Formats: sequence, structure tokens, C-alpha cells
Amino acid sequence: MNKKITIAQIGLGNWGKNLFKNFSLLSDCQMKYGCDLDPEIIEAYTRDYPQARFTNNYEQVLADPAVEAIVVATPAPAHFKLAKMALEKGKHVFVEKPITLDVGHADELVNLAKKVNKKLMVGHLLLYQPAITRLKKIVQNGDLGNVYYLYTQRLNLGKVRNTENAMWSLAPHDISVVLHLLGKSPVSVSALGAAYVQNDIEDVVFISIRFDSGEIANVHVSWLDPTKTRKTIVVGSKKMAVFDEVNDNTLSLFDRGADHQSNGKVNLRSGNAEIVKDIAKEAPLKLECQHFIDCITKNQEPLSNGQNGLEVLKVLAAADRSLKNGGKNELL
Ligand SMILES: NC(=O)c1ccc[n+]([C@@H]2O[C@H](COP(=O)([O-])OP(=O)(O)OC[C@H]3O[C@@H](n4cnc5c(N)ncnc54)[C@H](O)[C@@H]3O)[C@@H](O)[C@H]2O)c1
Repeated sequence: MNKKITIAQIGLGNWGKNLFKNFSLLSDCQMKYGCDLDPEIIEAYTRDYPQARFTNNYEQVLADPAVEAIVVATPAPAHFKLAKMALEKGKHVFVEKPITLDVGHADELVNLAKKVNKKLMVGHLLLYQPAITRLKKIVQNGDLGNVYYLYTQRLNLGKVRNTENAMWSLAPHDISVVLHLLGKSPVSVSALGAAYVQNDIEDVVFISIRFDSGEIANVHVSWLDPTKTRKTIVVGSKKMAVFDEVNDNTLSLFDRGADHQSNGKVNLRSGNAEIVKDIAKEAPLKLECQHFIDCITKNQEPLSNGQNGLEVLKVLAAADRSLKNGGKNELL
């Protein structure tokens, strides 16, 4: 049997519990420690996972040479400090999104991971969604033709946070998908948003992203919306694609577009819609956790590596500046 990767996780809250559970179920890793500041959480985990140890002291966990990798699932303000300490101790790091809140900090983590030759992976979960993997292949194969534009919607009457706005909370996923599908870096970003429920915490944000090869993208996020919508729509010169997370992760292809005729007229093509069938049914979180372990054991670069997390953060940071500047276009 292959050697198991020994892991400690810092942060065992709402999202952290999903990570801890998924890593625990993998055959090639061992969850040695869980760490959280909340005594009630420590008590519950000690009961549920008798094979692991639980503590409120992350320094003790980082000091254990048997621990090869650290999972950071604390709120974002603590990501930088904990990920940096873990890399300095020679551990591989999985850090939740967004990688950090500051571009300089993320850059530092990327360089540090290179220097100590350890993996740095960011929890951009949607990149492990099988339908997004399939959509990426469809785009790469040229099945859509030239991609003209794409947009995403992540809307709900959802949890209204009081420490971060809807953009910082919801948009990292969609920005990571936009950059992944196009496979290039944007040139500028603008964002329009508004705070209705609480002072200075935007409930709704529209982020517009421009690429120098002509594509444009829009990311619409809101926790103040009547219906739950999670869609990614890609419009190409040959076909159009719709990924609908709420509707059972359905990926549909539309043979639709507008074509120039030899007589100079534009012909609208309104062909068939087909549902893409050959998509793996596996859960993205399981795939994401397995990918982190595989990257360590096979010495491969994670799909959502530190550099990828940094690119997403640059877009978020530019959108944040734009929000504060009344929607001004910010160069990247
Ligand atoms: N990938 C996804 O889809 C997804 C979804 C939700 C949240 N997240 C991310 O997961 C992270 C955690 O979010 P959450 O909703 O679970 O937050 P949460 O507040 O529910 O949990 C965070 C936990 O971290 C603990 N903590 C904070 N500082 C600590 C420290 N220094 N040492 C030990 N424990 C510490 C807190 O006690 C808390 O229990 C955030 O980065 C968030 O952006 C990702």
C-alpha cells in the first residue's frame, strides 16, 4: 500500500467541516490534527473523529515534523499568516479561497512555495466541477468557435455576511472559472455594486472584465435576489454553452449564432440544443481534495495553484478599487 500523506487542518468551521470529512475519506491521506479556536468545535470533532487529535494551538500542529501538509480553512484575514508559517515549516499548503486579501501577500506565498519547493493550492472548487472540466475541453477543442463573451450569475436570497461583501464572498469561484475557460489574463476590470442592507457592505456587484484579444466577461453576484441562480454562459461564434449548477449541474450546447452571408446579410442560426451527457458524476470537493494529495505524491502542479489564486485575487482587488471609485475602469 502507498504511503499516506499526513495532514493537519486549521479552521474547522462551516466550510472546514466539509474539507475535513472529504480528506478523512481519502485512502491515501491521514488526518492527524484538526485545529480550531472554538472549544465547542474541538469537543464535537474529538467525538466524531476519534483517530485524530484536536487542539486550539496551531503552532503545536505546525511544529510536528510528521505533518507533511496543512489545510487552511479559517476566514480569509488569517490565510496569509497561517499559509506562510506552514510553508516556512516545509509543509505543502491547501488554502481556501481567496488565497489572501492582499496581492503582495499572495505574491509572497507563491514565491515562498517555489523557494521551499512545496505545493501551494487554492480552494477554487468550481475548477474541479466535472461539468466545468468538460466545458473547458469544449472551448479548447474549438467546438464553440471563437469565444465572444461569457458571463456568470451567482445569486440567491443567501447568507448576508457582515465582514466581507458579496463580491469577496461569492465572486472568487466565478472569476476563477472565467480565467480558466479563456486561459488568459485580463487587461482591465470595472465593478458596479451597492450596499442596501448594511453600510458599506455591497449586497450586489456586477464585475466587468476585459481581455486584449476582444473577449469580455461579466460576473454578477448577489445575496439579495429572489431566486437561486448559478449559471455560466459562454457565447462563441459557432455555438453557445450554458452550465446550470442549480439544475442538476446541466451543461447544454446550443447550435445558435449570427452568421454573415455572401450577400452581406446576417443570418440568425437557431439550431438545436443538446445536453452534454459524458460528464463524470463525482463530487467536486472529493476531486479537489484528491487532486491536492495526487499533486504531492506525483510531484505535479495543482490546477488551482498559488499563481492561479494570485490571478483571481488581482481581478478581485482591481474590482474592489473600481467599486470604491464609482465603477472606474482599473488596469491590471
Ligand atoms: N470553496 C468553497 O466553496 C467555500 C465555501 C465557503 C467558505 N469557503 C472558505 O472557507 C474559509 C472558511 O469559511 P467558513 O465559512 O468555514 O468560516 P467559519 O467562520 O464558519 O469557520 C472558520 C473557523 O476558523 C476558526 N479559526 C479562525 N482563526 C483560527 C486560528 N488562528 N486557528 C485555528 N482556528 C481558527 C474559527 O474558530 C472558525 O471555527 C474561508 O476562507 C471561506 O472563504 C470556501
